[in-house]
Amino acid sequence: MRRAASALDYRELARRRLPHFLFEYIDGGSYAQVTLKRNIADLEDVALRQRVLTDVSSIDLTTELFGQKLAMPVALAPIGLAGMNARRGETQAVRAADKAGIPFCLSTVSACPLDEVSKAATKPIWFQLYMIRDRGFMAELLAQAREQKCSALVFTVDMPVPGSRYRDYHSGLAGSAGVTGSLRRTWQAMMRPHWAWDVGLLGRPHQLGNVAPVLGKNTGLEDFFAWMRNNFDPSVTWKDLDFIRQNWSGPLIIKGILDAEDARAAADLGADGIVVSNHGGRQLDGVPSTARALPAIADAVGDRMTVLADGGVRSGLDVVRMLALGAKGVLLGRAWAYALAARGEAGVSHMLQLIEAEMRVAMALTACPRVDAITRDALVGR
Ligand code: GLV
Repeated sequence: MRRAASALDYRELARRRLPHFLFEYIDGGSYAQVTLKRNIADLEDVALRQRVLTDVSSIDLTTELFGQKLAMPVALAPIGLAGMNARRGETQAVRAADKAGIPFCLSTVSACPLDEVSKAATKPIWFQLYMIRDRGFMAELLAQAREQKCSALVFTVDMPVPGSRYRDYHSGLAGSAGVTGSLRRTWQAMMRPHWAWDVGLLGRPHQLGNVAPVLGKNTGLEDFFAWMRNNFDPSVTWKDLDFIRQNWSGPLIIKGILDAEDARAAADLGADGIVVSNHGGRQLDGVPSTARALPAIADAVGDRMTVLADGGVRSGLDVVRMLALGAKGVLLGRAWAYALAARGEAGVSHMLQLIEAEMRVAMALTACPRVDAITRDALVGR
């Protein structure tokens, strides 16, 4: 396979391009990957309702989220280490998002720092944050987000502790500290000469760009999991949203909600939005897919806040399915990480064009010419 004909093809291309440990990190879920598989299978199972003879000569994909006009109801999800998938990867991905007219959300644990990525974009980006024990450092990150005029803050709440991601232990990314891990990763990088040259050599520095200042000398990839384990704050509760609010007055989106009661709590606390998410099946394995969890959550809070969703979205059809299940917008995660690994900015742009084209067809054939026309009526048996 030389070129991707669908967003899914990029997964195979990424597997061939990336050192094993990086592919495993992106591709993997936690424990037995039950939830990861459910995300995809349950979404595929959502049957679209075909309608005919309704005049679909004009299809409008535009929408508005948090006061921002978008070319389509899609954003690029925050992904840790994604910048290692291509040279200064997050700067390439943000350019693709920018050109497509959709938001890019930068992870706290990105490779490139916030100011580098913001400068590569023509429009403000979104910034994702975890609750970190050192509140002073968090306040600094939030100050940077304000300084870079980020247009939304995505606060991830489903990772007080990292999930058991066995594939990262097997690959040598996690758990094999020191010389062994480093030798294994170097060997894997040498097996991918294009990556070794383009990213390994020319893409330096390889750091967690936003947390390098507090990591001190320990900025290698092997410190990534240790840093998350030691610095994410497992004592975080709803009360801690006060701290976020004191330091952030823009749109606040809580990411990682899978339960209607939690969604109500987020709405009660005045969050502007939530992302119905199980972290791409990377946290608690065995929880339901987001396609399954979404309808009840949208019913519970959809009239009080903006409900977004992610998990298993690999096509424009999947975007339409998520919207029909109750989301107002969809975050694409692995889809952009694979495309970035395969072909850099051009790959992400192409993947987004595919998503857009697939959405157009799905909207035409379900007789939903506008985004707000996509409701549960567009599904069979719901
Ligand atoms: C970080 O967010 C991860 O899922 O690894």
